[in-house]
Amino acid sequence: NKVVLAYSGGLDTSVIVPWLRENYGCEVVCFTADVGQARELVFIKLFSVNELSLFEHYLLSLGLMEMDGLEKKAKASGASELIVKDLKEEFVREYIFPCLRAGAVYERKYLLGTSMARPVIAKAMVDVAKDVGADAVSHGCTGKGNDQVRFELTFFALNPELKVVAPWREWEIQGREDAIEYAKKHNIPVPVSKKSIYSRDRNLWHLSHEGDILEDPANEPKKDMYVLTVDPEDAPNQPEYVEIGIVSGIPVSVNGKELSPASLLSELNEIGGRHGIGRVDMVENRLVGMKSRGVYETPGGTILYVAARELESLTLDRETIQMKDTIALKYAELVYAGRWFDPLRESMDAFMEKITETTTGSVTLKLYKGSVTVASRRSPQSLYREDISSFETGSIYNQADAAGFIQLYGLPIRVRAMLEKGV
Ligand code: ARG
Ligand code: SIN
Repeated sequence: NKVVLAYSGGLDTSVIVPWLRENYGCEVVCFTADVGQARELVFIKLFSVNELSLFEHYLLSLGLMEMDGLEKKAKASGASELIVKDLKEEFVREYIFPCLRAGAVYERKYLLGTSMARPVIAKAMVDVAKDVGADAVSHGCTGKGNDQVRFELTFFALNPELKVVAPWREWEIQGREDAIEYAKKHNIPVPVSKKSIYSRDRNLWHLSHEGDILEDPANEPKKDMYVLTVDPEDAPNQPEYVEIGIVSGIPVSVNGKELSPASLLSELNEIGGRHGIGRVDMVENRLVGMKSRGVYETPGGTILYVAARELESLTLDRETIQMKDTIALKYAELVYAGRWFDPLRESMDAFMEKITETTTGSVTLKLYKGSVTVASRRSPQSLYREDISSFETGSIYNQADAAGFIQLYGLPIRVRAMLEKGV
């Protein structure tokens, strides 16, 4: 009778509304999650900051300006209502920061920006479905991607009774032209916003680019494609230092200023963006088997990953770091594959929380033309002791102890050589 649709206001989801009504005869409730996809985009692309009135600044800071008009649009497409939820703090605190603490990186490079956003959106959809008494949910993901899996595994995990409708896997509409035609036939206003040539996904953590010239891995991305970061070549000639404060593996401050999770990340996006930090260009393996080429901009996230790993070099010992990194690999795979609410990921997260209990302190990084280098790290829980490690003499470490250690540690290697030499 009623379906909750993940709605963006773009052409695809605008066409899904009448399509659902026509093909399923149901009432459509549109849902838009604010995960930070709108705000800075308006800033960078449409206005220069000085052109904004104070009031517009205020609207932007509340994240209201871009969302404005969305409700009219949804209703014009035939939705009974639009529900908007601000999930920014929840997204950063409950999804991004755990992945950061875990050190989760997919296929050596991808910081999982889109992967982390899907479960928080899908979870909110399950809640909305309950609130409005809907028995189905729907999304605009194609049948070729990861996102459909991430949405649907979250629906399964949180409410196995919900029906799922994925129009892209069912309908005849093939591309943009078909969609515009369908909209016209159903008297739906076609969204006027200029469609980018790239398939993009944006949130507080990252912006992804796929499609168009990127589909040939041999093509270098165009300079004007990037949105969050300046070209490192055009970045300031002066480096900038930034200090990240971390408590138990979770960032809490920037340059000594305590900030909420979402504002901390926005602040770092701005700082990292102006130094061209966090661009990644990669060919990755999608869950559905195909390879795909994507370019990601993760300025603040990249700074945070470097800071967190750097602090761990003080607070964790060798074996712990090795085990943590091993588990992080699997953790990243599960997040990429949409298995956020899998007890396996949750249990690994409990491990990560425990093991990073003492990872508290601060790291100062130097940002310069796309690079992040460490300048300083400190921790009250540091395992590093100058009185042991120093080249100057100390009292705890006795050099003579090393002789016996090497004899026993090297025994197997010595025995093997004796065998080979027949001694
Ligand atoms: N390839 C990345 C991922 O699977 C980014 C996907 C972007 N999604 C999108 N709907 N444009 O996480
Ligand atoms: C999509 O098909 O919705 C985008 C690509 C992806 O999900 O990986």
